[in-house]
Amino acid sequence: MSGPLVSSDARILGIETSCDETAVAVVQGGRKILSNVIASQAKLHEPFGGVVPELAARAHVERMPFVVDQALRDAGVSWREIDAVAATQGPGLIGALLVGFATGKATAAALDVPFCGVHHLEGHVFAATLAEPSLDAPYIALVVSGGHTAIYHVIEQGTYQTLGATLDDAAGEAFDKVARFLGLGYPGGPAIDRLSKRGDANAIEFPRAMSGQGLDFSYSGLKTAVVRYVQRAEREGANLVKADVAASFQEAVVDVQVEKVLLACEQQEVSTIVLGGGVAANTRLRERLEMACEKRAIRLIVPDRRLCVDNGAMIAAAGHFRLARGESTSLEASASPSLALPG
Ligand code: KG4
Ligand code: ZN
Repeated sequence: MSGPLVSSDARILGIETSCDETAVAVVQGGRKILSNVIASQAKLHEPFGGVVPELAARAHVERMPFVVDQALRDAGVSWREIDAVAATQGPGLIGALLVGFATGKATAAALDVPFCGVHHLEGHVFAATLAEPSLDAPYIALVVSGGHTAIYHVIEQGTYQTLGATLDDAAGEAFDKVARFLGLGYPGGPAIDRLSKRGDANAIEFPRAMSGQGLDFSYSGLKTAVVRYVQRAEREGANLVKADVAASFQEAVVDVQVEKVLLACEQQEVSTIVLGGGVAANTRLRERLEMACEKRAIRLIVPDRRLCVDNGAMIAAAGHFRLARGESTSLEASASPSLALPG
């Protein structure tokens, strides 16, 4: 480790391509967003009901030059004004990751500036520092996305203790699978969120998996319960109200997430919660957590939806933090689909 590799007001180009968003941003000083361009591939993958890795990688290659160009133009900065480059190194889809990671390394080499590979989930945690620059550790982070569901104890900025994680599907994956089963399209999370507003969350008593059992999660049983419920209703010719199914499913997910993140706070004697990942955009999860935290005088930081989904700004923010600590990544490093979170 050396001294700081960037100044406190450095402009970092952040690149994120771990899944199906081609995302590039410019962030100054690790906290000020100058631009945050997200090119979603949702339409491309919609007919398949999920992300097709090969298509995602190709689309990243096609879109990257335009997204980078737009990020620089939105920020009003030239190439020469970029002080460092950060790119997602993993975890994620390897073909997709390679596009952003190689772009990041090549850009850093061409500009002769430092390069930092960022862990995708550290990026999701850092979205909270963009939303609330005064945020200070310790805090509990609930990261709920299409690929991950975990509770971290952020002991100090950059040091993570994993308190709990999903034993099977990720929360977003459960939303996507249930939505596909209900014929709501892809991505499923926003579709279920929207439809739930017209449904009764208490209509169906779906299981609260792992409730009262520590800090791990499980979603495969809940998904099966939804499938069984719908199949039985169809067999019996009952009137199936999709909005009720969606709202009841969503409530079961949210119930357990709220319970566990509050338990983590209690166990670690921490009074700040930050939310991250695509599922953090969920209206009901936000609502329920806001109510629960207000009651317990817990500080809750929920970034804007644009910072919750995969984006380049969170990668630039996490990269700034690492580079300021003198940590950089060799241009010979490779992207890794199963990268471990820094300790
Ligand atoms: O963090 P993200 O953009 O990508 C991954 O790293 O996985 O998360 C995408 C996931 C998808 O599964 C999507 O259905 C879910 O986040 N999602 C939502 C909502 N918006 C996105 N889930 C529930 N409610 C939402 N409003
Ligand atoms: Zn993500």
